[in-house]
Amino acid sequence: MLEGNLSELFNFLDTSTSPYHAANNVREYLLEANFNELDEQTPWELSTGGYFVERDGSIVAWYSRNENEASNGLAIVAAHTDSPNLRLKPVLKGEQVGLSQFGIEVYGGALLNSWLDRDLGISGRIVTLSPNSEIAESLVQISQPLAKIPQLAIHLNRSVNESGLIVNPQQHLRPIWNDTSSDTSDLLDVISSESGIERQFIQSWDLMLHDLQRASLVGADKQWIASARIDNLISCHAAISSFIRNISDDQFTRVPMVCLFNHEEVGSTSAAGAAGNLLPSLIQRILKDSNYSEAMANSVLASADGAHATHPNYLEKHDLDHEIRMNRGIAIKRNSNERYATNAVGQAIAQMICDTNNIPYQLFSNRSDLACGSTIGPISSASLGISTIDLGVPQLSMHSTRELCGKNDVKALEDFMFNFFKS
Ligand code: CO
Repeated sequence: MLEGNLSELFNFLDTSTSPYHAANNVREYLLEANFNELDEQTPWELSTGGYFVERDGSIVAWYSRNENEASNGLAIVAAHTDSPNLRLKPVLKGEQVGLSQFGIEVYGGALLNSWLDRDLGISGRIVTLSPNSEIAESLVQISQPLAKIPQLAIHLNRSVNESGLIVNPQQHLRPIWNDTSSDTSDLLDVISSESGIERQFIQSWDLMLHDLQRASLVGADKQWIASARIDNLISCHAAISSFIRNISDDQFTRVPMVCLFNHEEVGSTSAAGAAGNLLPSLIQRILKDSNYSEAMANSVLASADGAHATHPNYLEKHDLDHEIRMNRGIAIKRNSNERYATNAVGQAIAQMICDTNNIPYQLFSNRSDLACGSTIGPISSASLGISTIDLGVPQLSMHSTRELCGKNDVKALEDFMFNFFKS
């Protein structure tokens, strides 16, 4: 990968600290590429060109060269903007032994141990009510060490290394953020002064914690990327980069579309999630009078999400017939129980795209005696009736706040998506 692209990717990883920030970063890429932002609440006058809609941390963009093109089908690349993390509750208060605290709620399947002893910032969105009764939303990002969740010293939990760490989210994950003797006793005052939003207007928030350590290249050959939110910002970035590159090359046959959904990590059932009406309703609006079913039958979807690389210290957790290595290509995911939507036809299409374009790939299948994870592929495939390929970049430490993946696989994913749009 070019060094310039890598620094742009790292900037995306570091600054997309909440799904709202991820969607907003994508929005800025699209505006820079002259896409038109549409408001779902008003009628649309669509002609040729690029458009996008943002809803609640999700963002969908597409490009058509003529009005009826969408009836020939769409080539959709999907990914998700959210990552497991710790979220602030609606009432922020609490203190113990002279330390100011607040409560958190675990979002998604976070590896809780990875949040301990980190320097944590706060980001997300704040909703305000102005004196003239207008409700407004603002993005907030405090990227300085404000909170800590200190773990218990080993002297007070001697068996932790043998019996495993048990973390109760209600009890053990309450961050500390100040001394109670300090003049600042209200966390909202700090958020207000850091964000420039007047305290009196703050009504409510969707705020969350993020680890402040920036993305970096690790390994003797700097061959791996270590970062927060690799699952699934790596796929979001590959999707939007390959999409914009495709449009400027004008190489596509179907209408290219990128769907980046919020709420995947909590099952996708929400107004903005992949199981909601966002995508079906958008497609109906784009198609207008054209035949929806016919267009869907001509459409294809590639759903990109993190894949499990084979862990060298836990070989017994993997099916070694389907060993997956970092930097050896994207993983095409198969599961007979439809946890992944790729079927034999989808696999063959994905392999054809890879083989024709020299893109390395590997075949993933879970151990037969372990429950398999899932993703937005089967959900979108079911709601739209589109044939779907599930694939992604192999990674270790999935759902830790510091994940790891191969640098070359990011390039492979972007190349795959680029060729998927034009195939
Ligand atoms: Co994911």
